[in-house]
Amino acid sequence: MEFKHTSVLFSETIKNLNISPEGTYVDGTLGGGGHASGICERLGENGIFIGIDRDEDAINAAQERLKGHSCSKIYVRDNYSNIKSILEEQGISEIQGAVLDLGVSSFQLDNSERGFSYMQDAPLDMRMSRDDSLTADIVVNEYEQKELTELIKKYGEERWASRISEFIVKERKKQRIRTTGELVNVIKAAIPASARREGPHPAKRTFQAIRIEVNDELGQLERAASEFIDVLGEGGRLCIITFHSLEDRIVKEAFQRRVNPCTCPKEFPICTCGKKPDVKKISGKPILPSPQELEMNPRARSAKLRVIEKKLR
Ligand SMILES: C[S@@+](CC[C@H](N)C(=O)[O-])C[C@H]1O[C@@H](n2cnc3c(N)ncnc32)[C@H](O)[C@@H]1O
Repeated sequence: MEFKHTSVLFSETIKNLNISPEGTYVDGTLGGGGHASGICERLGENGIFIGIDRDEDAINAAQERLKGHSCSKIYVRDNYSNIKSILEEQGISEIQGAVLDLGVSSFQLDNSERGFSYMQDAPLDMRMSRDDSLTADIVVNEYEQKELTELIKKYGEERWASRISEFIVKERKKQRIRTTGELVNVIKAAIPASARREGPHPAKRTFQAIRIEVNDELGQLERAASEFIDVLGEGGRLCIITFHSLEDRIVKEAFQRRVNPCTCPKEFPICTCGKKPDVKKISGKPILPSPQELEMNPRARSAKLRVIEKKLR
């Protein structure tokens, strides 16, 4: 199956990485190698590119796509939250830039066997890495009703969360819900017909919520955002593209903690904690896709890019 994925905020990300041809750059969410090709194109023979993805299919597709570039290339199938140990293993102490483009790729969504899509019938899986033990099947069939309601509400921002989890629990008492198609039918039955007629596919939000849970997407981001800043060299930049308000909040707060690390009480006239910022924000507000990009790629609709730069010591 051909790896199809249109990179979001491509030129904005590459421009903001401020790539120097001899530098070392990391793409922590390699996917189809779209952003990676923009990085490798700008690196010279002495430049180093490190591509990380949890998904073996993504690594294989990107390796093929990036073959022609002359920089050194290192591919690692791992979680980007292990960035420190990944660099340590390669004997690299600091990098000049990194990009994280969160969520799933269109390739993962389109590959019916992976169980990410509510449009194709498949076993309930949704794992980005097949090494992980938690699957969508386990979440749907074994989580308590209360846990299900909370995660569908929080990660899916779904107003019908409690009805959906009630219907899931009722159905699974009869028989285990094994496929995406069966889950879609349960969700459709739970959402009143009048609400189903408007907006996106009725299963979209619930599927997103389960995928975020299965892959611990927010937990990984929380752990990684500050570690990526730690490994940046002077003037190095980190670009993070998010697709969900909870992801964007994690990035915004992680950046803010480094821009303003002072822990002194507000009423103190001067700082006595001694904690000094080691980064500066490159854009105050997140960078959003242009109207042209939105017209060409509806997936970019909720994308936000935040950029931070490591200060000179
Ligand atoms: C939106 S796609 C990236 C697309 C890529 N930027 C491009 O232009 O082709 C996200 C990729 O990140 C991977 N991914 C998501 N979370 C990850 C994590 N915690 N660690 C490593 N890879 C992750 C997914 O497997 C997927 O391939």
